[in-house]
Amino acid sequence: MMNISICKALSLLGLIASFLFATAHAQNSDADSASLYLAKACAGCHGVDGRTPATPYYPKVAGQNETYLYNQLRDLKNGSRNNSQSSIMKGIMTAVSDEEMRAIAAWLAKQ
Ligand code: HEC
Repeated sequence: MMNISICKALSLLGLIASFLFATAHAQNSDADSASLYLAKACAGCHGVDGRTPATPYYPKVAGQNETYLYNQLRDLKNGSRNNSQSSIMKGIMTAVSDEEMRAIAAWLAKQ
């Protein structure tokens, strides 16, 4: 009887701990992605919020679909998206890993 309630108590604690961890982790990864966006100089052209580009020729990137954003970043990086302005992004993207593209795309989609 005693063992069962200890087990229940422990599993409840485990649940609480994993909930707290998941919540803290979600907040961290949003903050991490926001700093990644700044650290990779994206804000210089697309605006800190992703919707106030530095020139009318640079696109607004916030609030776009996550999958679309990731696909554009990947294609701009590997050169399969190639138009008059793509070379501007291609240089930048050499310093952005696949994992970082996914994080930034997910964050931008939520802005
Ligand atoms: C020097 C200016 C500059 C910087 C820095 C820059 N971009 Fe861009 N970005 C552009 C331009 C110009 C385009 C349009 C490219 C094209 O027409 O193919 C673009 C296109 C994009 C697109 C595609 C938008 C769409 O609607 O298809 C995304 C997403 C994007 N940038 C995200 C980023 C991210 C994330 C970073 C940082 C890692 C970044 N950009 C850094 C200038 C910049």
